[in-house]
Amino acid sequence: MAAAGTDSRPQTGLSIGPLRLRTPIFIAPMVGITDRPFRAFAREMGVGLTCTEMTAAAALVRAPEEVAVRLLDLGPEERPVAAQLVGNDPQMMADAAQVCVAQGADLVDINLGCPVPKVVRLGSGAALAREIERTAQVMEAMVRAVPVPVTAKMRLGWDQHSINAPELARALEQAGASAVTVHGRTRCQKYTGDSDWDQIARVKEAVERIPVLGSGDVRDARLVEQRIRQGVVDGVVVARGMLGDWDFLESTVRLLASGDLGPEPDFESRLRLAKRHWDAMVTHHGEQRGVRLCRKFVVWAIKGCAGAARLRARVADLFTQADLDELYEEIRAAGEGPQGWHRPVFTSGEG
Ligand SMILES: Cc1cc2nc3c(=O)[nH]c(=O)nc-3n(C[C@H](O)[C@H](O)[C@H](O)COP(=O)(O)O)c2cc1C
Repeated sequence: MAAAGTDSRPQTGLSIGPLRLRTPIFIAPMVGITDRPFRAFAREMGVGLTCTEMTAAAALVRAPEEVAVRLLDLGPEERPVAAQLVGNDPQMMADAAQVCVAQGADLVDINLGCPVPKVVRLGSGAALAREIERTAQVMEAMVRAVPVPVTAKMRLGWDQHSINAPELARALEQAGASAVTVHGRTRCQKYTGDSDWDQIARVKEAVERIPVLGSGDVRDARLVEQRIRQGVVDGVVVARGMLGDWDFLESTVRLLASGDLGPEPDFESRLRLAKRHWDAMVTHHGEQRGVRLCRKFVVWAIKGCAGAARLRARVADLFTQADLDELYEEIRAAGEGPQGWHRPVFTSGEG
C-alpha cells in the first residue's frame, strides 16, 4: 500500500503489469460512447489508456468477426487500449480475451459492475462480483489465456449491506489481476448518490501490489491530483465528467503532468473541441451514421448555451455534415447562457 504523501511534484506515469502508461488518467468504458473516434480523441487529449465499451464474451466467441468489427474495432491511433468483456464463464471469458488480443487489445478488463437487469440476470456484471470465488476463477482463466495484463472494474458491492470490494480486489490480485478499478457506488445505487471515495480508499489499502483506479464523479482536476498524490488511488477513470467537456480531460492530464491546469476553458474552446470530435465521428462512421451518432454529443455541447431549448429541438433534424456545420455555427453565435456552462448529468449507463 502506498503511504499517504505530501509530495507536491507533478505525477507522471503509471505501470499496469508490463504496460507503462504516460499518465494515470484514463477514460472509463461507456456503452454507446467510447467508440473508436471517441477513444482516439481521448488519446489526443493525452489520456494514458483508452477502453472500449463492454462486449459480451458469449457474442464475441460465437461471432468473433461480426462483433469484433462493431465493438472491437481497435486502431493504432488509440493505443494503448483496453477491451472490456462481460460474462461469467471462465472458459468463455478466456476465449473472448484471446479474440480481444488478436484484435490488438493491450489489456483486457472484466466488467464486474454492470447493474442492468438483462446482464445481472445472467449472473454477469455486478452479479458476478457477488461470487468472489467464481470471479477469481474467471480472472485466473483469462490470465492464463492471454499474454497481456488482465484487470477488473467493480462497484463497492451489491448494496450498502454487502460491500465486498476490498475482499474481491484482494482475491483478484491473488488470481493474477494487474489492476482494479473501483466505481464508488453499489449496484443498487446505479448512478445515483455520490461516489464514495473513502470506500475506494479501503480497496487501495486491501491490495498489496497492484494499482487501484478510482471511478465516480471525477469532475474536478485538482481533487484528482490530490487523491493521487495522497495515495488514495493510483489513478482515475473519467466518465460522465468529460461528456461535452473535452477540456476537462485535457486540463486534468496537463495538471498531473506539469502541475499547471492551463488556461480556464471558455465556451468557444469547449465547443471547438466538441466539433473536432463530431467531425472525426463523421469521417470514421460515414456521413449518415456518423451524424446520427453525433446527436447526443451535440445535445451535451448545447447544455448551458443561450437559447438551449430552441437549439436542442433542432438536433433531431441533423442528417448531414452540412446540417452539423450549420448548427455548430448557431451554437457558437448563441454563446454561453446566463447560468454559465454546466456538465450534463446522464445516468443510463451499464457499468
Ligand atoms: C452511458 C454509460 C455507459 C457505461 N458503460 C459502461 C461499460 O460498458 N462498462 C463499465 O465498466 N462501466 C460503464 N459505465 C460506468 C462508467 O464507466 C463509470 O464507472 C460510472 O459512470 C461512474 O463514473 P461517473 O460518476 O464519473 O460517471 C457506463 C456509464 C455510463 C454513464
